[in-house]
Amino acid sequence: MYSDKVMDHFTNPRNVGDIKDADGIGEVGNAKCGDIMKMYIKVEDNIIKDIKFKTFGCGAAIATSSIATEMVIGKTIDEALKITNNAVVEALGGLPHEKVHCSVLAEQAIKAAIDDYMAKK
Ligand code: FES
Repeated sequence: MYSDKVMDHFTNPRNVGDIKDADGIGEVGNAKCGDIMKMYIKVEDNIIKDIKFKTFGCGAAIATSSIATEMVIGKTIDEALKITNNAVVEALGGLPHEKVHCSVLAEQAIKAAIDDYMAKK
């Protein structure tokens, strides 16, 4: 049902945790399943230098947040804003149709963290 990449990121998620002095924090949730995702970013010279996440949710939500953090590190704010949930799903080698909505949380959490960073700036 899940690709090896999904299983890898689910069982061994990257960048889990928080950033104490984060420049931006985004929290989003899915009202239907009740899952919550929180992303913390550290920005320097318009580049996302660090990102950490905490996800209280299903395996697909954990795998998508994990790979999304890897896709965002080192990107400029503009590049990070262009990362779509489809790109995240593709990077994972696909998700079962009924799990694609979980990847939307990752896209939204990145955007929410960047919005928070912009608002504070
Ligand atoms: Fe809730 Fe996957 S079922 S995010």
